[in-house]
Amino acid sequence: MQRLTDPHEAAKILARGELVALPTETVYGLAARADQPSAVARMYAAKGRPADHPVIVHVASAAALSAWARDVPEYALALADAFWPGPMTLVVHRSETVGDWVTGGQDTVGIRVPNHPLFLATLAELAELVNVPEVGLAAPSANRFGRVSPTSADHVLREFNEAVNVGVLDGGSTTVGVESTIVDCTGAAPMILRNGAVTAADIERVTGIALIERATSTRAPGTLASHYAPNARVVLATETGVAVACQDILDAHRSVGLLAQSHVPTPANVVRLSEPMNAEQYAAVLYASLREADALELEVIVAVPPLGNTGLEPAILDRLTRAAHQ
Ligand code: TXA
Ligand code: MG
Repeated sequence: MQRLTDPHEAAKILARGELVALPTETVYGLAARADQPSAVARMYAAKGRPADHPVIVHVASAAALSAWARDVPEYALALADAFWPGPMTLVVHRSETVGDWVTGGQDTVGIRVPNHPLFLATLAELAELVNVPEVGLAAPSANRFGRVSPTSADHVLREFNEAVNVGVLDGGSTTVGVESTIVDCTGAAPMILRNGAVTAADIERVTGIALIERATSTRAPGTLASHYAPNARVVLATETGVAVACQDILDAHRSVGLLAQSHVPTPANVVRLSEPMNAEQYAAVLYASLREADALELEVIVAVPPLGNTGLEPAILDRLTRAAHQ
């Protein structure tokens, strides 16, 4: 794997149907031309991802929606207008030309305009090289299937090292830190399939429509109970229960790391992984903290999710719950 700094270089590689990991504002994505089945197949193989899991198609602007989607409702256009470029994916009916290889065989497609200058510059260069203005890049998080998503180029390099011959365009650490909010826009009202930085309140405010509550049985295909898993076991604790939880683990002679907001004190003999001041900072350091625990070969991570549901709290709780699922 090689580190790249020039979007033009990245675009040349992508134009050939090869892979490049690209930074977004959420996490790094392993990008492949969405219009080329062989390129997308290479990306699935690199990740070790099952073929029935749909991927998100990243495009340069909402203008590309007409090429990739059909019957897009007004409320989805309002969301695109308000939050793109940004950490939101819209699931919409796919247009005729969209291949099964990006949708996992479904009649819907996930579309997003990422808010990162290097990603957008790569899309612009690629559109010129292949002469397709609405060109799309299929880009799942650039980690092996089921593992922790990468929030820096170093994470990507360590994830794939020699095994996969792709480049990574280095954009430093990502700012948001958790994956985009996924909004299903195929019904009469929007429904959140995955929580992210764009919140339920944001969506209701912009659309003026009450969200459809997601039934516990509905899931985004490819969202699994166990996901985002480090090697260490993840245990969730409350602020008041954290001292006892850590002591129990230490009593069992296991090493423990703590991920909690700065106002939560670190119990004796516990490795403090990070001390975010608020939910935004928590999301930004979440995945790096899980990776840090593995680098330190800790056996258990005790995580105290931030309380509340007005910002990134639901997204953090969702990722931690999946990381903790055995
Ligand atoms: O922030 C993000 O969304 C990152 C960056 C790289 O853009 N990407 C990302 O991709 O998280 P990935 O593949 O790790 O997760 C995409 C998820 C899939 O697991 C699936 O649940 C959902 O998006 N998805 C994609 N297309 C869908 C569709 N047509 N219907 C329902 N869910 C879909
Ligand atoms: Mg992922």
